Amino acid sequence: MGALWHPFSDMGMVERDGEFVLTRGEGAYVWDEHGNRYLDSTAGLWFANVGHGRTELAEAAARQMSALAAYSTFGDFASPPTVELAERLASIAPVPGSKVFLTSGGSDSVDTATKLARRYWNQIGQGQRTVVLAREKAYHGMHVAGTAMAGIPGNHDGYGELMPDAAKVSWDDAEDLRTTIERIGPDRVAAFFCEPVIGAGGVYPPPPGYLESTRKICRDYDVLFVADEVVTGYGRIGGSWFASGRFDLEPDFVTTAKGLTSGYLPMGAVLVAPHVAEPFFRPDGGVWLRHGYTYSGHATAAAVALANLDIVEREDLLGAASRLEQTLESRLAPLAEHDLVAEVRAGTGALAAVQLHDHTLALPLARELRRHAVATRAVGAGAVQISPTLVMTDEQVDEMAAGLSAGLDALA
Ligand SMILES: Cc1ncc(COP(=O)(O)O)c(C=O)c1O
Repeated sequence: MGALWHPFSDMGMVERDGEFVLTRGEGAYVWDEHGNRYLDSTAGLWFANVGHGRTELAEAAARQMSALAAYSTFGDFASPPTVELAERLASIAPVPGSKVFLTSGGSDSVDTATKLARRYWNQIGQGQRTVVLAREKAYHGMHVAGTAMAGIPGNHDGYGELMPDAAKVSWDDAEDLRTTIERIGPDRVAAFFCEPVIGAGGVYPPPPGYLESTRKICRDYDVLFVADEVVTGYGRIGGSWFASGRFDLEPDFVTTAKGLTSGYLPMGAVLVAPHVAEPFFRPDGGVWLRHGYTYSGHATAAAVALANLDIVEREDLLGAASRLEQTLESRLAPLAEHDLVAEVRAGTGALAAVQLHDHTLALPLARELRRHAVATRAVGAGAVQISPTLVMTDEQVDEMAAGLSAGLDALA
């Protein structure tokens, strides 16, 4: 019996069946402790956009650690990579002039956006706006705010009420957002949280017109629109740094993490539109924001993020994600004919899911796929996740599709 308590696990099952120990990665592949090679079909947990084994990121970390590994950024403290990263993120943010609040990961980013949204309303004299809305199937991380907004059944069960004033709306019916805002009272609603492509809930691209309509409804009622781009950000959506750019959302907040560093070090960022940041940046001062994390703006993580963004640009991984969007859609489509498969969802970014009729088979399928050199996991309700590194070639997509097909046959 090991000491490690795995997140999102049934530890009884892990202790019975053992751990799946990975020791090495290179490009689109990872290797287990026995030397077996797998196509990493999930980019770790949707994060390894630049692929594995990038020594230039290790070198960026080593350089910064040798100079100054980390320091606080509370108050007026700063370090050069942290300042540079904020400028760089502001320059690619979907809303020009955005301010950048750095965090240690996606859940931090969601908590930060929740608090900033409420605090913004408080600051401008509408402190009664405290309600945050999120969609069914939503995953907004596992801090208290994100858990309270969880739309995946089971993710908020058993903890009691974690946060008052969190309410749910339909994942695919924009009018339900309007009805819900009307029911609660528009002057009580602070923000609407929205994953442009639902990720952990099972990879659901937005229904046609859904994002445009919900964005407009939020404008109609002055509700802040939070694009949760922890999965879609930094290139995965294809052709654009953010889904907010691709769908022209002009969000009030963008919550991000994962692809910011490709997971080489933990880091997240919240991009805040200038009109929301403005009350906190008054030239005469006097407005304290008492929020932040020890590792907000961690210097080494920032240096790695900068080097990671260099790779994304240099290798045109935004273009690669567009290519993968098409390749995944066309090469995975035939799997929909398989008896076990209900549908294949793809077509918006380097993101896809193979949905099974029998939801209980997703976990066994993910396990079986390891025998076919494909590393993936169950996601949503009865689906397996496909979100490859953006360096995966079309030939490797074919290899992955063949593995998926063989795994489905073996399970059937
Ligand atoms: C959309 C979304 N938001 C937030 C998070 C939470 O990020 P983290 O696990 O880094 O805290 C995730 C993680 O998968 C996510 O997919």
